[in-house]
Amino acid sequence: MAREVFNSKMGAIAAAAGSAVGLGNIWRFPYVLGENGGGAFLFVYILFTFLIAVPILLSELAIGRRAGKPVLGAFKALAPGTKWHLIGYSGVFCAFLILSFYAIVSGWTLLYAYRAVVGELAAISPDEMTTLYNHTSSDPVVSIIWMFAFIGLTAFVVMRGVQDGIEKYSKILMPMLLLLIVLLCIRALTLPGALDGLAFLLKPDFSKLTFTGIFEALGQAFFSLSIGMGTMTTYGSYISRKQNLVSGGFSIAGLDFMIAFLAAVIIFPCAFSFGISPGQGPGLVFVTLPNIFNQIFMGRAVSIVFFVLLSVAALTSTISLLEVVVSFLVSERGFRRKPASLLVAGLIGLLGCLCAFSSTIFSLFDNISANILLPGGALFIVLFIPHVLGKEAFRSELEACGTRQRVFGVLYFVIKYIVPVAIGGVLIYQIVNWLIG
Ligand code: PHE
Repeated sequence: MAREVFNSKMGAIAAAAGSAVGLGNIWRFPYVLGENGGGAFLFVYILFTFLIAVPILLSELAIGRRAGKPVLGAFKALAPGTKWHLIGYSGVFCAFLILSFYAIVSGWTLLYAYRAVVGELAAISPDEMTTLYNHTSSDPVVSIIWMFAFIGLTAFVVMRGVQDGIEKYSKILMPMLLLLIVLLCIRALTLPGALDGLAFLLKPDFSKLTFTGIFEALGQAFFSLSIGMGTMTTYGSYISRKQNLVSGGFSIAGLDFMIAFLAAVIIFPCAFSFGISPGQGPGLVFVTLPNIFNQIFMGRAVSIVFFVLLSVAALTSTISLLEVVVSFLVSERGFRRKPASLLVAGLIGLLGCLCAFSSTIFSLFDNISANILLPGGALFIVLFIPHVLGKEAFRSELEACGTRQRVFGVLYFVIKYIVPVAIGGVLIYQIVNWLIG
């Protein structure tokens, strides 16, 4: 039923990249890194992304392509009569939670695009920028209006099943975003005091890294790559059999990491230069970045373009999240696409209102989804590969398109032993910590 979503199979890798690249890179990564002391967090994050998260991404893509069905149906088809499809239910639940706070931040992005257009961000001091953000985040009505605008936009796309069209635009718009980010990096690095910010990002000080920081780096790696809840399993089902999954997966992860890293290369020099605390939390991107626009040639135009492109990046991620829930209702519960999209958008709007009224609920949803549900889901997904799907089926998905045997051997070893032990270890340690702490 959801099969009509992507007409071109070739576009599926680009769509998966569109899901991965979003506010997770530019909003969440810098703020979580800033709260966890900088360089050492970056080091652990890189390790988790390429050693743990990429193998999970490949597992999801392989499972989806093998089954040729979105997440719930995929597990039902590959392991009939078992409980493995519960992974799909956890994904649907997780998509709800993530969308409720993600839509609020996406709404702020739209709001900042509007503010850039009307000139509200121009020529105000860094302190005023902070005050502006504080007003915004503590005014539920404003947040709710913009959130509904954003959810409406997402629902419109998903309802009409025109994701494919959006992906076509985003293939042009995302390289533009990357280019703009590179230009902003250059400006950020030439600000007075920028080097302190760069040192904060690049010099690992392991005494600042707590176990909670390690735990959050794992959650952020999963959040950023959209893994652990079935989004990538669903996209895997749209990928052509001729496509090499391993190179596709590494390209997605490489691009995703690069954008997150470069965002941090802008934000921390900027924070240090303008005297903003790097650990100031979810507002970090909104209080640092606009200051830079005031320091560059044609800053107002650049800021408009930047926030619009960021909104598009957020949109390709919210589409992938809403699609998880809608395709579930359509293929498992017999809904039609239009009412399903509207119903889910409405429910998410209600949950989003909770996040707008309470920053505690906002953080709770953010933490539970990224740090508990995604790693939990990912754990079951990697257990599925050796224990249910089987080595040969997995090999045929990966090796068929040119991945070398040795590469497969290493990957399979990592998936069978290293990934489950690492995720299980970090989750158990953190939960015990909470219980006794
Ligand atoms: N990866 C997206 C981002 O970085 C967020 C996301 C998480 C999307 C999980 C889908 C599933 O913005």
